[in-house]
Parts: sequence; structure tokens; C-alpha cells
Amino acid sequence: MPAHTFQSSNALTGTIRVPGDKSISHRSLMFASLAVGESTIQGLLEGEDVLATASAMRQLGAYIERDDAGTWHVHGAGLGSLLEPKQALDMGNSGTSTRLLMGLLASHGFNATFTGDASLSGRPMNRVIEPLSQMGASFEASQGGTLPLMLRGAAPAVPITYRLPVASAQVKSAVLLAGLNTPGITSVIEPVATRDHTERMLTGFGATLEIGEQNGERLISIHGEADLKPQHVIVPGDPSSAAFFMVAALIIPGSDIVIENVGMNDTRAGIVHALRQMGGRVEELDQREVGGEPVADLRVRHSALTGADIDPALVPSMVDEFPVLFVAAALAEGTTRTTGLEELRVKESDRIATMAAALSLAGADVEEHEDGLTIRGTGGEPLRGTAKGASVETKLDHRIAMSMAVAGLVSRDGVSVDDTAPIATSFPTFMDLLSGAAG
Ligand code: S3P
Repeated sequence: MPAHTFQSSNALTGTIRVPGDKSISHRSLMFASLAVGESTIQGLLEGEDVLATASAMRQLGAYIERDDAGTWHVHGAGLGSLLEPKQALDMGNSGTSTRLLMGLLASHGFNATFTGDASLSGRPMNRVIEPLSQMGASFEASQGGTLPLMLRGAAPAVPITYRLPVASAQVKSAVLLAGLNTPGITSVIEPVATRDHTERMLTGFGATLEIGEQNGERLISIHGEADLKPQHVIVPGDPSSAAFFMVAALIIPGSDIVIENVGMNDTRAGIVHALRQMGGRVEELDQREVGGEPVADLRVRHSALTGADIDPALVPSMVDEFPVLFVAAALAEGTTRTTGLEELRVKESDRIATMAAALSLAGADVEEHEDGLTIRGTGGEPLRGTAKGASVETKLDHRIAMSMAVAGLVSRDGVSVDDTAPIATSFPTFMDLLSGAAG
């Protein structure tokens, strides 16, 4: 468990590039593995979560290699020709790998066992087990519907129409991926729009999808037994990784940075709106399209932030960014209230409780509610930091580690974080980029 103390930092300046989008990286490996022929992927996130997806797809029969220039080459076996894995699929810390692959394998006629680390093994899988069981798959899960679990796929599976009981792109994607190898049309009704990378990318790979509206809800239908065609995928930078540098630049006096090539898909860009609402100066330069996704370079300057009531309607488009938004709120003038965050309790950690404890330990004024936090900010004064000998608990959660690292950059005594290892799941270059930008 590498502990680290993050000390008050110089202004952040210069130009940085964050690694590829995690959601798009997972999907590019999975979909390329289902296309017959060679796909190439540029800008793939080489974090542990995505590497877990790569090794699972290899176990299922795909050929996946990285060349010296950093391009990934994937030779797919074709939909329906995946092989039964000989060993358990070890999903590490990655909920996305697990839930999307459970969907994909639910319509293949073999068994697969999924395992994961202590964090992943505590996360709810019933949300995917339920619709996938309706499609004909069966499951033997650990108590409470958790990993380790065994899946018995159905061949053929039965198409369903499923209305999402929680706003979750992972559940939506699991059902759509099960629908890929299911005869007929499988549909998902989404009361609240969540990230749409699965829909965009499957269309790009040649699947037939219809996206419409029904009584104000999104209706997504996929035609089964699709033929996917190999693609050249370019992965844009991850807005969820960029968010740590956005907040750091906003709260460290004198900062002025450009974060290049950040994905600005509407279903992901909520953090930019929330930070602007708080008075953050975030400018989008050179708006363009990369690999079918809107992208911009973001210029972010130190700003006098003010507290705000964050609209719960923004939650799905910034669901992973609340830990670092809480840090911005802790440095803002006045009170920030967040609500509608129940889903944060079932992420890599319970992010409401973990951030409440971590920020309080670092001297912030935080009140925890069932569905969010109320934070009274310092008005720009540095946080006290953690006391000597104390360190915040990251609970195997990369976003807690990085958020509290950012908090440490504006603290009097520094913020000690008990374990920085989880950062490698999503942002292996985080520490280097941080020291570079502050240098
Ligand atoms: C993701 C969906 C979100 C998000 C996760 C990535 C995806 O999870 O938190 O980091 O790639 O589909 P939920 O679907 O559980 O909200």
C-alpha cells in the first residue's frame, strides 16, 4: 500500500494530455474482439481496468497486441464464436469490465466465472443478473448478488424490452450487448439519459440500432445476430481524468493550464457545467470531432469559486466526478449542496461516506446526507490538511485517491493518502502529469 502525502503546490501551468477515455477503451476492445478481421485502436487507456478487459477478451479467443508505437491491434473471432474461458475471468477493480462482459456472455452458450478484488466483490451485480436472467442466462452469485459468480449463457437467448430501474450505462450496455447475439430485437428504455458510448460505437462497428423517444424516455433497440466490421478507433482523452486537473487549476492560485483532447460528449460533460456554475473559468478551445466523439482543448484558470446547489439532473453526466467536485466545493466561498447521489454509494467505494470522512479529516466542513453532501467552503483559504500520523482512507477507490491528492495541493500541512496504488486502474500517468504541471 504506497502511502503518499500531497503538499501545497505551485500554480499549474503549461499544456497536458490526459490518457484515453476508460469507457470508450473498454468498449473498443470488446467490440473489436467481436468483429471478424483486424481492428486498430489508438489512444487506448493502458490502465489496469482496461488491461483486465483485454486479458478477458484474450481468454475468450481474441488476439490482442500492442505495437511499439502504442497502437493496439485486435483480431476478432466474430460474434457467436467466443470460446469458453478455461479459467475464471479476473476483473480486478473494474465494474465496467464485469457488467458489460456479463451482458456479452449471457447470450453465448457456455459458462464463465467472474472474480474481482475486495472492492469489486462488494458491488451489486443483481442489477445485471435480473435482466440477463429474463433473457435466459442463469447465475450462481455470492451472497447478496456479488462476485465471485458463475454465469451460464443462453443460446439462443430471448430478446426483451427492459426499463432501467437505475440510471446506469453499465446496465444499459449489458442488456444491449446480450442483445447483439440474440435473435430479434432487444430494447432498453432509459428514463434518464446516461453515457451513450455503447450506442455510438456499436453503430460505428456496423450493428443496427434505433434510438427514439417514448413518453419522454429514451428507447434504444438493437437488432440481434449482428455482423460487426473491424474499425479504426481513436480514443479521445477521458473527461473524468481531466476533471482532477480542472479542479486543481481552478483552486491553486495563479494556475493557467490547457488540457488537450478532452472528450466533451454531452452525456459526460456535466462537470464542466457544474464548475462554471460555481464561477470556474473553463474555456473550450478548438471544438472538433475525434473518432465520432466531440472533443475540445480546455483552458482552465484559477478562479474564485462560489458554492452552488448542483442540479440533480446533471448527476448522470458527471456521476464519476463528484469526489473531485466536493474538493472544489471545500475551497469555494459559501455552501454547496449536492443531492440525488444514491448511486455514488455503490461505486468502487461508498463515495459519499468515503469523501465525507476524507475531507473532514483534511479539515473541511462537510455534512453527510443519504443522497449527497453539504459542504461549507473556505472561500479559497487552504484546508488545514491531515494531522501528523493520520491519513485518509481511499478504500481501493482510484477517484478518492486522486481527489484527495488535489485537496492536498491546497492544504497547509499536506494531505496524506493511505494508498495511491488504485490510481493505476484508470490514470497511470497521474503522478507524473501532476509533478510536470506544477514544476
Ligand atoms: C460506466 C458507467 C458508470 C460509471 C463508470 C463507467 C461505463 O457506471 O460510473 O465509471 O463505462 O458504462 P454506472 O453505469 O454504474 O453508473
